[in-house]
Amino acid sequence: MAYTGPFQPGDKVQLTDPKRRHLTVRLTPGAKEHTHKGAIAHDDIIGKDEGSVVESALGTEYLCFRHLMVDHVLSMPRGAAVIYPKDSAQILVEGDIFMGARVLEAGAGSGALSMSLLRAVGPEGHVFSYEIRDDHLDYAVANVEDYFGERPQWWSPRLGDFGEITPEDLGGKVDRVILDMVEPWEFMETVRDVLIPGGVFMTYVATVPQLMKTMEKIRELQCFTEPRAWETLLREWKVEGLATRPEHRMNAHTAFLVWTRRLADGVTPPRPQRRARR
Ligand SMILES: C[S@@+](CC[C@H](N)C(=O)[O-])C[C@H]1O[C@@H](n2cnc3c(N)ncnc32)[C@H](O)[C@@H]1O
Repeated sequence: MAYTGPFQPGDKVQLTDPKRRHLTVRLTPGAKEHTHKGAIAHDDIIGKDEGSVVESALGTEYLCFRHLMVDHVLSMPRGAAVIYPKDSAQILVEGDIFMGARVLEAGAGSGALSMSLLRAVGPEGHVFSYEIRDDHLDYAVANVEDYFGERPQWWSPRLGDFGEITPEDLGGKVDRVILDMVEPWEFMETVRDVLIPGGVFMTYVATVPQLMKTMEKIRELQCFTEPRAWETLLREWKVEGLATRPEHRMNAHTAFLVWTRRLADGVTPPRPQRRARR
């Protein structure tokens, strides 16, 4: 799939009608999309610039744009709950997922985070995505391959238990580890063993007990920096003259993010100094 330039065969295109309803098509020369507003010929879209309008046989106009990654993630089939874009964005930046990084993630789930990681590290990097359930791994592989049009060569989706991974399985230690599973605190020894000194670890946990157990385990192991925890709240706004205001509805809670870095071997974390209370 192309990401830029005029539409090409194989592109996934989102068509939006005047009532803002979406229809997604994969462009195939000679094919037609049949709607109750009449057929839309794929050949009328191929070769046009993004942001063009195509007309159905009955005269309805559709605005055409390529499917963005965010559209793909929110509409793709899923076996497990996905990490939402507002949180993947935090993971990419706070987790410092750099071009060329070697990243280990688990569970792969539906592959939503895998896609963001794969785009961020690029072909010079590598993403290892472990998943314990074969049915979930099938979703992840299908969704990632559908998005990229093929399996990225820098991706290793693997069926397996995160707790059993060793650096040898990964061809050496990794730069970043990202966990999205129910009990990350049970796997912190594995994180310790596979993460390079200075490497960043992040995990995504939905509830306060999970957050507390994870923070406690990180402190107990004495080989990580003092962990940070936060959540992000995203509130959309309606901007229409005097009616400008926040939207009434929002996804108030998705999950908490926990962040820490691996210390060099043999170093214990310096005791955090807190100001004495007056
Ligand atoms: C919430 S889903 C992950 C969703 C994924 N981050 C995404 O954005 O699509 C959690 C996944 O972790 C997997 N899992 C749980 N324990 C695991 C383990 N020990 N090793 C590997 N995967 C595990 C589950 O089967 C499940 O598919």
